[in-house]
Amino acid sequence: MVNPNRKFFVGGNFKMNGTVDMINELINHLNNAKLDGKTEVVVAPPSIYLLQVKEKLTPPAQVAAQNCYTADSGAYTGEISPSQLQDANIEWVILGHSERRSMFGDTDKFVADKTKAAIANGLKVILCVGESQEEREKDITMEVNERQLEAVTKTIEEKDWEHIVLAYEPVWAIGTGLVASPQQAQEVHADLRQWLGQRVSQKVADSIRIIYGGSVNGKNCKELARQPDIDGFLVGGASLKPEFVDICKSAD
Ligand code: 13P
Repeated sequence: MVNPNRKFFVGGNFKMNGTVDMINELINHLNNAKLDGKTEVVVAPPSIYLLQVKEKLTPPAQVAAQNCYTADSGAYTGEISPSQLQDANIEWVILGHSERRSMFGDTDKFVADKTKAAIANGLKVILCVGESQEEREKDITMEVNERQLEAVTKTIEEKDWEHIVLAYEPVWAIGTGLVASPQQAQEVHADLRQWLGQRVSQKVADSIRIIYGGSVNGKNCKELARQPDIDGFLVGGASLKPEFVDICKSAD
């Protein structure tokens, strides 16, 4: 059940995968699918391939970086700035992915600061939150998701939320083949929306796209897409396969 006020959104996070040739092939496949634009489609290749994808991808499909730093420029070896992404006409950036939080030390505060800097530079943000298996078993799922979101809420203003798509990605579902059931995902999405309504504003809660990520594939996407609070997907492994096109069409 696609909400008419929230355009369905599908992101493909290639993570650290691909080669020049393989990525050209993926983009050709996506271009040939002639997506009708009813769903907003965004692909996030590794940074070295961003400009290649930008050049080859047919609009209205868009491009996202997988991370960025807070500063505009300076002595930050290995980082990319939000203003550089904007300069290169990259529209989106993924921030707060669990792999960055768990492996590269991105704290809630750092993710919030990056989100603020990205929006200040005209980028749109796919902001990721999600609990681990252990946290779910301890029954602190919402506590963890709210803590991650609270840091962002404290750092940005209400008007900034229109530039954010919120991705709920339970860590236990990422890359495991263990997709959340439609009911499990719907429950957290509804709770997140309610929390945003109370903590930020009802307007933000009603309009923000909350997308699900974690082992989404061409088979399980349709039923997930039917949930009232699931407004799209952030896809990892399956975004590297032809079935990504089926996921992009899951709300049709
Ligand atoms: P998988 O689809 O491979 O589980 O990855 C999800 C993800 O982390 C997208 O950002």
